[in-house]
Amino acid sequence: MPLASAKRPVLPVGSGRALVTGGAGFIGSHLVERLLADRWTVVVVDDFSTGQRSWLPDDDRLIVFEGDIRDAALIGRAIDGCSVVYHLAAVVGVRRVVADPLRAIQVIVDGTERVLEAALAARARVVLASSSEVYGLSDALPFAPDGPRLLGSTRVPRWAYATAKALDEHLLFAYRERGLEGVVLRYFNTYGPRQDAAGYAGVVATFCDAVVRGKPLEIHGDGRQTRCFLYVDDNVDATYRAGLVPEADGEILNLGSTEEVSILELGRLVAEAAGVPFDPRFVPYQDVFGDHFEDPPRRIPDIAASERVLGFRPTTPLHDGIARTLAWAAERHAAARS
Ligand SMILES: NC(=O)c1ccc[n+]([C@@H]2O[C@H](COP(=O)([O-])OP(=O)(O)OC[C@H]3O[C@@H](n4cnc5c(N)ncnc54)[C@H](O)[C@@H]3O)[C@@H](O)[C@H]2O)c1
Repeated sequence: MPLASAKRPVLPVGSGRALVTGGAGFIGSHLVERLLADRWTVVVVDDFSTGQRSWLPDDDRLIVFEGDIRDAALIGRAIDGCSVVYHLAAVVGVRRVVADPLRAIQVIVDGTERVLEAALAARARVVLASSSEVYGLSDALPFAPDGPRLLGSTRVPRWAYATAKALDEHLLFAYRERGLEGVVLRYFNTYGPRQDAAGYAGVVATFCDAVVRGKPLEIHGDGRQTRCFLYVDDNVDATYRAGLVPEADGEILNLGSTEEVSILELGRLVAEAAGVPFDPRFVPYQDVFGDHFEDPPRRIPDIAASERVLGFRPTTPLHDGIARTLAWAAERHAAARS
């Protein structure tokens, strides 16, 4: 893929050393591959709580630290010599956050502060992976980076994730006042090979996993809630650029597709791609997430700033991305059986 076109900012020439926290995870491991392909030396910090060692390539230019991002001494060692930090480590997925909100808050908030402190000292730029969750239940569509956010009650554990990610963003801007360079990326439902099939962020992964196992597709609620799905390669291309393009410093950028798809339609597309009948099983939210649960009915990103600053343009059509994710799920299922 060309790094620059007429509308895409040209990246600085040359590569260096980059730290990827959460580099063994779904998006992180694709980013690590991208950095290595562009001849970066890559340092990964991951506790392998959801990430997999086997997703990391065997490469002399890859250095792996197994540990917790809340360990300041570990982050201090890992960041040495890095000019950019892609901070992706977090407790991810509504199901996981609802199951243990305290751990999620501590990892997301304390972990990010350790990373920001270390980056300020090392004079490294931070690319912070935030989330469309921070917009909450806002109906000011499409969601603009500086637009309103509407979060529900603090009794609803789901909002712990949104609040913690928003606090991470505040922390990044507070550290910028002390001289840090940094950019916030709000990811909207990214999907593709290696995504964890357990959890709500990964509904494409969950559906692909179900069809390759011959299980029915479970739709939470009535399935009319919509999302905009971004293929992982498109996400990684923009995330990578955010670490390098000078104009990204200080920005909040949405990374998502603008193609709005209902969960029901998504299920239909996955079943069609797999060549199986679409026979969904509807499950009330309460049965999955308990009594206190709220779900944004629609989510569409405003990507004007990402286009302008990064030259961001999603290029993978949903049916291609589904086909690739399905092929990966089928391969994994076959490997597990043999
Ligand atoms: N996938 C999406 O659609 C999506 C949407 C919005 C935001 N995000 C954000 O993108 C980032 C990456 O998410 P992902 O989908 O690749 O999830 P993931 O679970 O695959 O990646 C998270 C990684 O962080 C590691 N990790 C977790 N806690 C850690 C800790 N305390 N110390 C060190 N490592 C730790 C995990 O082992 C894993 O490798 C996260 O910050 C997430 O909040 C993702």
